[in-house]
Amino acid sequence: MKIGSIDIDRPVILAPMEDVTDRAFRQLCKRCGADIVYTEFISAEALRRGVEKTMRKLAVDEIERPVAVQIFGSTVESMIEAAAVAETYSPDFLDINFGCPTKKVAGKGAGAALLREPEKMQAIAEAVVKSVGIPVTAKTRIGWDHDSINIIEVLHRLEDAGIRALAIHGRTRSDMYKGKADRERIAEAKRQASIPVIANGDIWSAEDAVAMFDQTGADGVMIGRGSIGNPFIFSQAKHLIRTGTPAPPPGFRERIHAAIEHLKLSVQYKGEKYGNLEMRRHYATYLKGLPKVSLVRNKLVREDGWEQIVEILLAYEVECEGYAKEGRIKEYAEYLNDHSGKLVLNY
Ligand SMILES: Cc1cc2nc3c(=O)[nH]c(=O)nc-3n(C[C@H](O)[C@H](O)[C@H](O)COP(=O)(O)O)c2cc1C
Repeated sequence: MKIGSIDIDRPVILAPMEDVTDRAFRQLCKRCGADIVYTEFISAEALRRGVEKTMRKLAVDEIERPVAVQIFGSTVESMIEAAAVAETYSPDFLDINFGCPTKKVAGKGAGAALLREPEKMQAIAEAVVKSVGIPVTAKTRIGWDHDSINIIEVLHRLEDAGIRALAIHGRTRSDMYKGKADRERIAEAKRQASIPVIANGDIWSAEDAVAMFDQTGADGVMIGRGSIGNPFIFSQAKHLIRTGTPAPPPGFRERIHAAIEHLKLSVQYKGEKYGNLEMRRHYATYLKGLPKVSLVRNKLVREDGWEQIVEILLAYEVECEGYAKEGRIKEYAEYLNDHSGKLVLNY
């Protein structure tokens, strides 16, 4: 798959996720094999006003490359200004969000709302493409609702606008996260596309990633929720794609150490207080299904010092060695089957 000078065969990509794909999580996923990573979406209006908290979201590190900055907005003017600011942070490419279904974005005419105004979507894309020197891509859904699925029109309009790749989440705006992502709609778009298509929606395992490639013919696949607490999904998917055989699932040691790495990166970038606070919602997914996990979680979320948290996790690893000897630790794959509705999602 080619986007400008990026050229990767069947990439497995980390999806943009608000409050999740910060520098720490992106780097962890990169270490676990993600081929391309995206920032969380960034408000064009906030960039225009120079809001400090928003500006910080633009920072990317060399080790993340190739990395995309994603922006959203509802007017050509704000998007051009935001694109210019984002470009100064040197991402490999810029991505435009035309898929966010939430009130705070779609309710203000941005994100998925532009699926109802395809001409305006095209005008925004074209203006952004012309205003920056780096490639511009887009991410969208298959339509606003099931009576107005217009992904093929959107695809051709974005191609005409100069968009270099299109990521498609196989749901409509009105689906939010309900039902199953529609792979056939993505496959149809891929058949008609002259630009790379990235398929997204409901990849929870390496097998799902392979099925997504097979059923859509897409150039790349993008993983969102399935990577939360399970960054190993990238290396596992790539292993299965390249070799046709599944990689061994991560054991409790790998999962505990991934949580430790995530915590360290989080503290490095956000400081001890915020780094710790933001990690609290992640422990449950890293440790999901392990014995007596609620006890250790309670300890973890009460502790303020990151070094003490690492000690708690290392002590738990020793505890788990004992459980493993007693045969009380199941294969990780069994926990993964139990993902539905367990994540707290506000997006
Ligand atoms: C917590 C959360 C935050 C999200 N934030 C963004 C975002 O900032 N930009 C975006 O384009 N999509 C965002 N999404 C949508 C995901 O990128 C992805 O399209 C969607 O979750 C479907 O993929 P999945 O089934 O692999 O999770 C978000 C999803 C979640 C769950």
